[in-house]
Amino acid sequence: MKNVLSGMRPTGKLHLGNLYGAVSNWIKLIGEGYDCYFFVADLHALTTGFSKAEEIPEDTIEMVKDWLAFGLDPHRSTFFIQSEIPAHSELTLLLSMITPLGWLLRNPTYKEQIENLKDSDLRTFGFLGYPVLMSSDILLYDAAFVPVGADQLPHLEITRWIARRFNYIAGSKILKEPKPMLAPVSKILGTDGRKMSKSYNNAIYLSDSADETEKKIRKSFTDTQRKRRSDPGRPEICPIFTLHRIFTEETKTDEISIACKKADIGCVECKKILISNINETLATYRKKRAEIKKSDILDILQEGTRKAKLKANKTLNRVKTAIFGQDSPLKQD
Ligand code: TRP
Ligand code: SF4
Repeated sequence: MKNVLSGMRPTGKLHLGNLYGAVSNWIKLIGEGYDCYFFVADLHALTTGFSKAEEIPEDTIEMVKDWLAFGLDPHRSTFFIQSEIPAHSELTLLLSMITPLGWLLRNPTYKEQIENLKDSDLRTFGFLGYPVLMSSDILLYDAAFVPVGADQLPHLEITRWIARRFNYIAGSKILKEPKPMLAPVSKILGTDGRKMSKSYNNAIYLSDSADETEKKIRKSFTDTQRKRRSDPGRPEICPIFTLHRIFTEETKTDEISIACKKADIGCVECKKILISNINETLATYRKKRAEIKKSDILDILQEGTRKAKLKANKTLNRVKTAIFGQDSPLKQD
């Protein structure tokens, strides 16, 4: 079966957007029988947050705890930590030798981030090389498919160029060209009507209690143009409605949509229905989350990392042999 690989920077606790966007898709791919690798992209976290590196270990634990609580199965996939597998760093260096600077400088994600994150100093070799590190992550595991959000597509494209260029230079197919698998965009909006995001402070977390969740929903924006109870609403732009789509059964969701447009239902009542449904669904996950021990997470990461390392080292050896030749006097294994 084909390999699927995806990574997430360790950002700590995950919110509903992360879970119902990326993680639910990962769970689906395991179910479809792919050989799946999911990893903590802690080296990538260093490219933008070197000064906060000491937070990475705890953020890793909290993130993986959410993966597990939400049902990502470590026995049917492989979880690992990027920085624990030296092959990622080594292949990055080797591939950097054949990566034209122009590919990296023209990368739209790079240009945009350099503009947006003016406060942190991103003018580093490491940050420019973000896509080369990501290419190594992918190519080490012969990934056929890489589930990512649309913002990562330029990086996938660069990965394909690098693989092709390496294979061309080597004169044989050493590296497998991966294909992106566009994750269904999370249509979940945050409580302020913008995209749900940790940095916007508008997110609902799996780790939030039922009370916290209720409070957040009560305070949430709805259709901001719906000032009075008698004003018709627009569910399609309402953050509450994006949550109904996930947590409320379809016929009821359709009913709410119709009623909202005719001002037959008020936002207070609409939110009440959501609060009850969301807390009912999340209760099982929250319970599971509370029961997961740190030592179990560490065991899972350790075992996954051990397995992943074998695969990564195999590919790295193939690459080094292609570069230095079969009879390199420095060949070790
Ligand atoms: N850059 C990805 C993100 O920010 C995370 C990532 C790192 C990744 N390496 C990867 C995703 C390899 C898929 C495959 O979302
Ligand atoms: Fe949103 Fe519900 Fe209010 Fe309509 S009734 S605007 S869907 S909260």
